[in-house]
Amino acid sequence: MTAFPANIKSMFTRRFALVAGLLMLSSVAASACAVQESNTYPVELFSEMHYSQAYKAQEPPRLAPPAEAVVFASIGDPEQILNVPDKRERAYDPVVAGNLYQVNCAVCHGVGGKGDGKAVRHIISSSSFYATTQGVPYAAPPDLVNSAATRLTDRDIMVSFVTSGAVVMPAFGKLLPEEDIRDIVNYIFDDATGLSK
Ligand code: HEC
Repeated sequence: MTAFPANIKSMFTRRFALVAGLLMLSSVAASACAVQESNTYPVELFSEMHYSQAYKAQEPPRLAPPAEAVVFASIGDPEQILNVPDKRERAYDPVVAGNLYQVNCAVCHGVGGKGDGKAVRHIISSSSFYATTQGVPYAAPPDLVNSAATRLTDRDIMVSFVTSGAVVMPAFGKLLPEEDIRDIVNYIFDDATGLSK
């Protein structure tokens, strides 16, 4: 019986240590975010960021429906329900392509493609792992409008650059289907409604 208060006390001390530990961990996680400077690359981007409800390559193939299954008639006719558009045949749409650009590229290359995205200050930071080990900060992402006009003037060459990536620039061949990459490159070159206008 005499040990009872001591037990309670140590239980509370342990609880307190656990809660304090969890709070510290969560604040570290919150400040680290998805972009960090402290790793091998000037910034670390996680491909998991690209998992979205719209792109389900991460899911296993689905089972075919049972042979005797019927279409639920009140929702629509079978033609409409089974008529899933083939992405490979879709035409270039600046709105779709512009969204793809903003989601995948603007964080580094900027909303207008000028190379002034939100992640740039981390990429060029003089306290990044890259800067401290190489002696010089990493270069900022290039201006894509200028690139399309003067350096990567051929769309196919730009598509293959974006597909294979570089040091900081992720290899988008692992993140997006080819038709999305083509759409984005068309959007960069588009001088009527896209980035180059
Ligand atoms: C994490 C930041 C980042 C993201 C996201 C990113 N880029 Fe880049 N990009 C760079 C950097 C930095 C370079 C310079 C090459 C290097 O050092 O990696 C570059 C280079 C390029 C180049 C070569 C331009 C030239 O003239 O040298 C093209 C084209 C390009 N990016 C297109 C894109 C497209 C399209 C997307 C979206 C699908 C994209 N980038 C997403 C950082 C990024």
